[in-house]
Amino acid sequence: MPATFTKSALLLSLMLGLGQAHAASQSATDALAAAHGIPHPAVIAHRGASFDAPESTAASYKLARDLGADYLEMDLQRSKDGVLFALHDNNLQRTTDVASKFPDRKDSPANAFTMAELKTLDAGSWYNTKYPDRARPAYAGLKILTLDEIIDIAQANPQHKPGLYIETKEPQLFPGIEHDLKEKLQARGWLNPADSKPAKNQLAVGEGKGKVILQTFEKNSLELLQKEMPQVPKILLLWVGEGGMEPQSKVSFADSGDKDKATYYARQQPKSEAEFKQWIDYAKAQGAIGTGPSAALTHGGDQSYSDLVQPWMNKYTHDKGMLVHVYTIDEPVDFQKVMAAGVDGIFTNRASELLKFYKRPAAETVDQLLKKNGY
Ligand code: G3P
Ligand code: CA
Repeated sequence: MPATFTKSALLLSLMLGLGQAHAASQSATDALAAAHGIPHPAVIAHRGASFDAPESTAASYKLARDLGADYLEMDLQRSKDGVLFALHDNNLQRTTDVASKFPDRKDSPANAFTMAELKTLDAGSWYNTKYPDRARPAYAGLKILTLDEIIDIAQANPQHKPGLYIETKEPQLFPGIEHDLKEKLQARGWLNPADSKPAKNQLAVGEGKGKVILQTFEKNSLELLQKEMPQVPKILLLWVGEGGMEPQSKVSFADSGDKDKATYYARQQPKSEAEFKQWIDYAKAQGAIGTGPSAALTHGGDQSYSDLVQPWMNKYTHDKGMLVHVYTIDEPVDFQKVMAAGVDGIFTNRASELLKFYKRPAAETVDQLLKKNGY
């Protein structure tokens, strides 16, 4: 597929001339995504519909599902007693009331808690405090979710069956998590080789070939995921800085004089073109079907990082026969910018807005869907 892809894109470009070359390469990436059963462009609901509801909770994932997002994104961790669950941060302070329930252990990593302990925490009230304009009384007391519970949510709406987009988060903290994930997905019927056909329509991604995508920032975890689940599409997440691509400048944020981290990251670039290409080549060699690069956002903020979706970067990745899913974009101005640069899908906290941008708006509003689900 990759060699054919490159050759035919080149040939078509030559035959059709510059004006139509973009259309030709667009159809090549359409075909590439279709071959993996992945919608193109893809709507990846980052921690669920996490702008409108507390991240990684039932409210957030049910809303993303019912809006018609293609994928429910999650950061996978493992409790002290071995249960897989979704949480972004290493500890529980930002998104739960751990400080009041377990004051002596408030700084402990989440994996120092059993699932029974994690289930005592309130993972919704922080959102009401931080975002009073979006607060809902029913968010108070929402629970941390196990992977099993998120799978139940993904399967529960007959009209909207999203896929799962699962990140092994800090996998070095969870030896063997790649194997545990495989066992769970297998047990739940999400690795069924019989599901080798593409989904029958746009709202049934969770029933087709591209129903699960695995993602990681860690090279070692990518290799383990490939060993455990060679048939499942994988994405290597890209980042400039520690653990990622080597930056041009090693000056720290503290020493940079920049007013905020977004400004600092926006100036961070891979140290060379070769450094960028080396990461793409590595991902390809390890069996990844694409990459998940960061982006610099127009209005900054704490999701704004280095711009790793410049047209030449996307072209290089496409020429290798790989897709580009960029994280994490919430505003139309940036949807427009990254699509024009050639990405194939977007991680977003605002699935409702991205679906509108792609002319696939949900039939009901965020408010209507939240109320239907009891929030
Ligand atoms: O997984 C893609 C994106 O979520 C990476 O950033 O820190 O939100 O997991 P993070
Ligand atoms: Ca993530």
